Amino acid sequence: MDHFLYRDGALHAEDVAIAEIAASVGTPFYVYSTATLTRHYKLFEEALSPLPHLICFAMKSCGNLSVVKTLGALGAGVDVVSVGEYLKAKAAGVPGERIVFSGVGKTRDEMRIALEGGIRQFNVESEPELFALSEVASSMGLTAPITIRVNPDVDAKTHEKIATGKKENKFGIPISRAREVYAEAARLKGIDVVGIDVHIGSQLVDLVPFEEAYLKVAELTRQLRADGHDIRRLDLGGGLGIPYERSNAAPPLPLDYGAVIKRTVGDLGCELEIEPGRLISGNAGLLVSKVIYVKSGEERDFLILDAAMNDLIRPSMYGAHHDIVPVVEPAPATLPQPYDIVGPVCETGDTFAKQRALPPMRAGDLVAFRSAGAYGAVMASEYNMRPLVPEVMVHGDQFAVIRARPTYDEMINRDSMAPWL
Ligand code: LLP
Repeated sequence: MDHFLYRDGALHAEDVAIAEIAASVGTPFYVYSTATLTRHYKLFEEALSPLPHLICFAMKSCGNLSVVKTLGALGAGVDVVSVGEYLKAKAAGVPGERIVFSGVGKTRDEMRIALEGGIRQFNVESEPELFALSEVASSMGLTAPITIRVNPDVDAKTHEKIATGKKENKFGIPISRAREVYAEAARLKGIDVVGIDVHIGSQLVDLVPFEEAYLKVAELTRQLRADGHDIRRLDLGGGLGIPYERSNAAPPLPLDYGAVIKRTVGDLGCELEIEPGRLISGNAGLLVSKVIYVKSGEERDFLILDAAMNDLIRPSMYGAHHDIVPVVEPAPATLPQPYDIVGPVCETGDTFAKQRALPPMRAGDLVAFRSAGAYGAVMASEYNMRPLVPEVMVHGDQFAVIRARPTYDEMINRDSMAPWL
């Protein structure tokens, strides 16, 4: 459930009309609902209670300072994958002891900054990374708390570009080698092994792969404890999928996912962490855009929007579906008609949807892409010298610009002239 509903024929974000934001901010823009972010976070809280746990929001899905602060203030931790995200999480007021650091390519500089600023744990993905972290931490006279990310070789049954738990993927160490690598880690200076980490992929709409992976983690926990390791924390990753198409069957809910966690790893006496991104932020955001032209082609009609692939890359990158709805609610008897919905970028791949049914549209009409809060703004670029799309946050009847659209001067002045020119 989200808080983007039609009221008196007009799409609203909570109590604010989308058209009002468009008039004030211009289009395109992203808009996030505080109530929806909060609701989704709380669903995970309920799903894991009463087990000891920390929900670490994967800020790669939606990293705006205000979004991270909203969740942090509710008690969320944060999963970061770069020192940039780490610093931003801290700037949003999240303390180091609630930040976990994931990713296959952490550099020594990144490790140093996180150790200096305080970190809950590093999720270590390889032996070379383990050795580097040991060197960095011991040279600073510190001890780095770590989990080791294991690759359970489970098929997450999701898009191949976002599946991470198969043995051919670059992530984690093979679970078959885990005992050896944990033994190695226990011998290293500057390393405190606190637990195990696993993450098998994103947009999972089936709980079976989670169950398989978590059963393997439970078995490994028992083995590692028998080997003498004090395994006291399990990081179970993120990945729970969201309903992108309202017409399809709904994917499992956080409560169902929590039940899988409880029956697979709930009796181990471990503190649990999860790293959901998309389920918290995805349906908490819209991308709002304006129709520039309606163009009648020979075979089909095109809606040419002022948003493009650089603002929301998911359709062209993953063939992803986003529901696209008019901001003015169509009258009940309106006959929909098919449109190819495209952006202004000079690539055929700049297509959001083909033959999508919408009420008859005119230039100047507003449309909203649903489920755009995750992997939307964070993956945007300024391709074609298009200003980075701004972000707006709604809270009840208030709204605020939480990232302004850059001006063309700002964009041009970010470049500098080579001295010989
Ligand atoms: N933890 C780790 C280690 C991850 O790699 C990811 C996502 C998450 C947590 C959060 O997963 P979520 O709960 O959001 O599914 N750009 C792609 C998605 C990439 C996901 C990468 N890793 C998309 O637009 O679908």
